[in-house]
Amino acid sequence: MTESLTQEAVRLKRPPGPPGLPVVGNTLQFALDPLGFPLRCVQEYGEIVYLNVRGLDTYLLTNPDDIEQVFVQLHDQLILDQLSRGLSDALGDSLLVSSGSFWERQRRLVQPAFNKSRIHSYAPLMVEFTRAQIDSWQPGQVIDIHREMMHLMLAIVAKSLLNFDAAEQAEAVEQYLDKAMRHILGIARTGLRVPLAVPTPGNLACRHAEQDLNQLIYGLIDERRGSEADHGDLLSILLHEQDTDGSQMTDPQVRDELVTMLLVGHETSALALTYAFWLLAQQPESFERLCREVDDVLGGAAPDADNINQLEYAEWVFNETLRLYPPVWATGREALNDFELGGYPIRAGAQILLSPWVSHRNPRYFDAPDQFVPERWADPSRWPRYAYFPFGGGPRTCLGNRFARLEALIILATVAQRFTFRAASDTPLDLLPTVTLRPRNPVHLTVVARS
Ligand code: HEM
Repeated sequence: MTESLTQEAVRLKRPPGPPGLPVVGNTLQFALDPLGFPLRCVQEYGEIVYLNVRGLDTYLLTNPDDIEQVFVQLHDQLILDQLSRGLSDALGDSLLVSSGSFWERQRRLVQPAFNKSRIHSYAPLMVEFTRAQIDSWQPGQVIDIHREMMHLMLAIVAKSLLNFDAAEQAEAVEQYLDKAMRHILGIARTGLRVPLAVPTPGNLACRHAEQDLNQLIYGLIDERRGSEADHGDLLSILLHEQDTDGSQMTDPQVRDELVTMLLVGHETSALALTYAFWLLAQQPESFERLCREVDDVLGGAAPDADNINQLEYAEWVFNETLRLYPPVWATGREALNDFELGGYPIRAGAQILLSPWVSHRNPRYFDAPDQFVPERWADPSRWPRYAYFPFGGGPRTCLGNRFARLEALIILATVAQRFTFRAASDTPLDLLPTVTLRPRNPVHLTVVARS
C-alpha cells in the first residue's frame, strides 16, 4: 500500500478512459447502455478503465490478476460499493448488503446452513418439485420459461431453507418479492433511485407487501422459537447458532437474512436456468448431447447428489450459460483506504467495478466469445481463475454457489429426461441489466416431448 495520495497525483496517474460530459461525466453513457458501453470501453482503453459515474471515481477492471486482488488480497481494504449498499433499503441489514465486522459475524453464523452434506440432502426435494412443475407441461405448449423457473426456484428455496411450502402461501411471498425486486430494479447499477421512505405509489405498494411478508416470516420465527424441534434448515440455524461471545441473532436480523435468501436464492438461479434452456433451444445439437448424456448416466433414474457428478456435459452447459449471461452481471467495491492497483493509485472512496458480463467476453481467453460453446469447458485451464467469476470470489464468494449448482444440474437433467424445447419465435433475447441481468420480456419456448 502507498502513502496517502494527493489529489494531484491521482489526477496525473489515472488510467485511460472515455471522455465524459461536463458535470455528469460518464453517467449518462453508462446509464443508457450499461452492457455495451463498458464492453466498448475495455476494447478501446484496456484492462483498467477510468470512469466518472455519478460524480464518483470509478475503475472498471478486467485483468484477472487485478480482479483477484480485489476479491482476495484487498478484501480488508474494501467495502461494498455505494449501489450495493443501497440494496439494504429493501433487504434490511443482511449478509448480502453489509460489510466489516457485522458481515463477518453474519457470514460465520449463516455458513453452516450451506455445508456440503446439508446441501446434498436437498437433492430429492429438488427432483420432486421439478417433476411436479413439469408434469403440467404439454407437448406443443408455449411456456414462459422465465416465469416457470421463478416459480420453481421460489418453491425449492423456501422448502429447503425454511421448510416452508411457498405454494400454500405463495401469494404473500411472491407479491413482496416481486415488489421488492421492482424497487431494487429501479436501482439499476447505473441509475438513480427513489429511497423507499419516499411515498411514491411504487414504494407504498412495496411497503404494503412488506407488511404481509413480515407477518408471514415473523409467524414462522415465532412458531420455531416456540417448539423444540430442530429441522436442521437455515431457519433453525439462524435461530440457534451462537457466535463466539454466546450472542444469537435477533428476530429482525433473522427476518432480514431470510428475506434476502428467498430473494437472491430464487432470482439468480431462475435466470441461470432460463438462459440455459433458451440457449439450448437455439442449439438443438447441444440439447441432444445433453439428453444423450442424461440417458447414458441416469438411465431413467432420478438425478441425485452423487450421480450428478457424472453429468459432465450438463455442467459445461451450466458454466457456459453463466459465462454468456451471468445473472449477477456486475458487482462493485469501494476503497476504504488509498492503495495501488494495476499500477495506478486508487483513493479512499473510489468505486471499483467488476463485471462478469464484460470479463467473460474477453477474446484473449474465450474464442468466439459471443457464441454458446459448452465444449470449451473441456479445458478450463486455458484461462486464469479470475477470467470467469459468475459467483464472485474470495471471502465474499456466493454462499449459495453449491446449492445453485446442484439445483441447476438436477433441473437440467430432470427436464431433459422428458422434454426439449424449440424457440417459439425468432425474437432475440432483449436483456434488462438491473441489479441482476433479467430478460425484458417473457421468454417463450415451445415444449417438445422426447421420443
Ligand atoms: C446461479 C445462481 C447464482 C449466482 C450467479 C450468484 C451470484 C452471486 C455473486 C456474484 C455474489 C457475490 C457478489 C459480490 O461479491 O458482491 C453472490 C453472493 C451471495 N449469494 Fe449468490 N448467486 C447465485 C445463487 C445463490 C443462491 C441459490 C443463494 C442462496 C440460497 C445465494 C446466496 C448468496 C449470498 C447470501 C451472498 C452474499 C455472500 C456474502 O456477501 O458473504 N446465491 N452471489
